[in-house]
Amino acid sequence: MKVLAFFILALALAAPAFGITFDRCSLAHELYSLDVPMDQLARWTCIAERESSYRTGVVGPTNSNGSNDYGIFQINNYYWCQPANGRFSYNECNLSCDDLLTDDISDSVRCARQIQRQQGWTAWATWKYCNGTLPSIDSCF
Ligand SMILES: *[C@@H]1O[C@H](CO)[C@@H](O)[C@H](O)[C@H]1NC(C)=O
Ligand SMILES: *[C@@H]1O[C@H](CO)[C@@H](O)[C@H](O)[C@H]1NC(C)=O
Ligand SMILES: *[C@@H]1O[C@H](CO)[C@@H](O)[C@H](O)[C@H]1NC(C)=O
Repeated sequence: MKVLAFFILALALAAPAFGITFDRCSLAHELYSLDVPMDQLARWTCIAERESSYRTGVVGPTNSNGSNDYGIFQINNYYWCQPANGRFSYNECNLSCDDLLTDDISDSVRCARQIQRQQGWTAWATWKYCNGTLPSIDSCF
């Protein structure tokens, strides 16, 4: 009984409160269906893997400047989305940060692509793992 209780507790701690977890190919398919060009899919899936382990529901640990990063692409709440606590944000994506945590990733994808257009791929600190040659995404299709 004790063992079972421990097991259930461990599961509860391990499971995200909400959100879904993609894998490389399921995310590639979803991105493609949201009009992301085929030749960007390997990059975006690499960034999602590094930023969130493909999980949609993640709010990252608080950054040293007090901001937080949201969702599958870990989008920052000082520039891009409005946090629910009313803290100042430029909110460039004109979104509530909570909209970046949902199972439906269309807001995350729209905002991430806006960031990429405005700032380039280097907006993501994990870009250093995702630049250069990546494994082909073709096997997913
Ligand atoms: C706060 O830190 C995050 C993560 O390092 C960064 O993306 C963001 O640009 C910083 N914001 C400010 C206002 O410095
Ligand atoms: C921002 O979003 C709100 C509500 O979704 C909308 O009414 C408003 O027109 C948007 N503003 C811009 C600048 O797109
Ligand atoms: C990406 O990689 C290429 C080739 O290795 C390199 O020339 C380029 O400077 C890198 N870009 C960034 C932004 O890191």
